Amino acid sequence: WTATRDKSCKLPMPKGSMGFPIIGETCHWLFQGSGFHASRRQKYGNVFKTHLLGRPLIRVTGADNVRKVLMGEHSLVTVEWPKSTATLLGPNSLANSIGDIHRKRRKVFAKVFSHEALESYLPKIQQVIQETLRVWSSNPEPINVYREAQRLSFHMALRVLLGFRVSDEEMRSLFDTFQDFVDNLFSLPIDLPFTGYRRGIRARDALQKAIEKAIREKPLCSQGKDYTDALDVLIESSNENGMELTMQELKESTIELIFAAFATTASASTSLIMQLLRHPPVLEKLREELRSRGFLHNGCLCEGALRLDSVCSLKYLDCVIKEVLRLFAPVSGGYRTAMQTFELDGVQIPKGWSVMYSIRDTHDTSAVFKDVEKFDPERFSEERGEDKEGRFHYLPFGGGVRTCLGKQLATLFLRLLAIELAGSSRFELATRTFPRIITVPVVHPSDGLRVKFFGLD
Ligand code: HEM
Repeated sequence: WTATRDKSCKLPMPKGSMGFPIIGETCHWLFQGSGFHASRRQKYGNVFKTHLLGRPLIRVTGADNVRKVLMGEHSLVTVEWPKSTATLLGPNSLANSIGDIHRKRRKVFAKVFSHEALESYLPKIQQVIQETLRVWSSNPEPINVYREAQRLSFHMALRVLLGFRVSDEEMRSLFDTFQDFVDNLFSLPIDLPFTGYRRGIRARDALQKAIEKAIREKPLCSQGKDYTDALDVLIESSNENGMELTMQELKESTIELIFAAFATTASASTSLIMQLLRHPPVLEKLREELRSRGFLHNGCLCEGALRLDSVCSLKYLDCVIKEVLRLFAPVSGGYRTAMQTFELDGVQIPKGWSVMYSIRDTHDTSAVFKDVEKFDPERFSEERGEDKEGRFHYLPFGGGVRTCLGKQLATLFLRLLAIELAGSSRFELATRTFPRIITVPVVHPSDGLRVKFFGLD
């Protein structure tokens, strides 16, 4: 809490408040959500200091400042998650690796998200989405979209990505444990009975045990390119790169992949559904694009598997997904630590301080977006191309050497969900007004978003 300035540097420290001893401003942050950062940014500027989750922190907003942090990976800054996140994800996770090890691990992971691999996951993702929408439509009661979207993305990660064959009962129990793990990833690192941190550790241990059992029981695909799931690709790719993974590394990588896919994709799926409900003309325009491109015929989605290239060539759909991720970026930012003292926006970032670059605040304050608060997918059209007016104004998947590895998979999932929603579902808001949006730990509606789904007649 007493982290201080670098006296050898003449620049002033960032402005800001450090709150109370030990807890700093953690409680304000949890209670105020996005309002916390907005109010401090207005008071102290784009680079301000605070104290969150047990450590002093400098929060950085704005494309130029964020660019300097992200492009300075391995020279100015290095990754450092809060202690709770780092411990729960484990030392072998990509998120916690640095330098050469990080580079090598990313190379191994890259194959998991290659074009060829995505093409092989596509029909399975489509099937999981179709089954889920059928279940939602057959329920006479409204659905809690956020909770069900979490189940959907967990299901996608466990069955489609990792090829685990677990019973529905085991799936439900794993889901609850995983929820406990995620809920406590960002907690004060106090290891006492009944603290969130201790609950997170217990959930992690239970998950690792279940995952080890599932990995040992899983029939692995034989050598060759006919992948059955991402775990097969990961194992094959690590062998090809001379980095055979130990069971511990496999367990940590598996949990990391589920975690990376789970909360983010569920948040984005919920925001997508909410925006389609809020903006019927957008939904109609999506349907029009699907009709004109032969995806929709006589009001029904054409039978048969979709191809990656044709799904990715739907331009309006692409604009809608981009706009959802701009206005409702699921990840609020990333954590780093200063490796040396450096200048940012006229103030010093002293060596050893934690730095958090901000995604959502950068989107919200960027001058390149006209009517920044308006949901306007066409800002991303070829004619307007607002995101082309400078790098780092639009960064839902981060940037630099740690750019999200799963971004193609995530956008494929969201595109398929939007196609199914527009092509084979009717859905209505089941409450009188739209819910408030909460931003911690990821963006989600306060009541989960209650929606009644109907099948097409
Ligand atoms: C990293 C966003 C989905 C795997 C990141 C980062 C962001 C992000 C912002 C960078 C964090 C940083 O700078 O420290 C998102 C969003 C998603 C999404 C918004 C969904 C809409 C996924 C999926 C996967 C995935 C589906 C894989 C199954 C990863 C991994 C990293 C990462 C492995 C760590 C990369 C590294 O440290 O080198 N993601 N993500 N993400 N993401 Fe995603």
